[in-house]
Amino acid sequence: MKTLLLLTISLILLACNQQAKNTQVLQRRMDSLESRLANTYKPGFGEFMSEIQAHHSKLWFAGQNENWKLADFEVHEIMESFEDIQKFETERKESRMIEMIDPVLDSVYRAIQQKNPALFKRNFYLLTNTCNDCHRATDFEFNVVQVPDKESFSNQDFKAN
Ligand code: HEC
Repeated sequence: MKTLLLLTISLILLACNQQAKNTQVLQRRMDSLESRLANTYKPGFGEFMSEIQAHHSKLWFAGQNENWKLADFEVHEIMESFEDIQKFETERKESRMIEMIDPVLDSVYRAIQQKNPALFKRNFYLLTNTCNDCHRATDFEFNVVQVPDKESFSNQDFKAN
């Protein structure tokens, strides 16, 4: 009877020891994954903005050429980049202000859907002002965005085919 009791206790102790070892292994794996994640490359706020800058320019020339399919594509690229900022730049307080751009982006989108050049132009100016409103509100007022006066991308045809 005594032997049986001792045997049971030893088995329990052995199981506990194994459990502790498994926990240690898991903890090491978690630590290594965490440090790998921290070192993964992700674009910075400014890089997202430079991307938005390119699409802002392309959007304008697409609209000017009444190339509504391209304009639709470009406005969605801008929307996606802003969504990416909200997703990937959570530690930047400016990310919480992104929503201010949504209504005017929707207005540009509506002008594109209506294929209305005058409305497009008006809403594009409003969009550009809103970009600068945020730059001022976040102390980046020296980044001044303007309606482009010449095409920066000579390797792209903005005319509708
Ligand atoms: C939510 C606020 C916000 C909005 C809206 C916003 N920006 Fe910015 N923008 C910033 C901040 C913050 C920076 C500085 C980023 C950094 O730290 O590098 C910046 C920087 C920039 C830069 C400079 C990038 C560089 O590295 O040279 C450009 C260009 C730019 N924004 C374009 C735009 C355009 C175009 C729009 C509108 C379609 C826009 N931004 C809307 C906050 C905003």
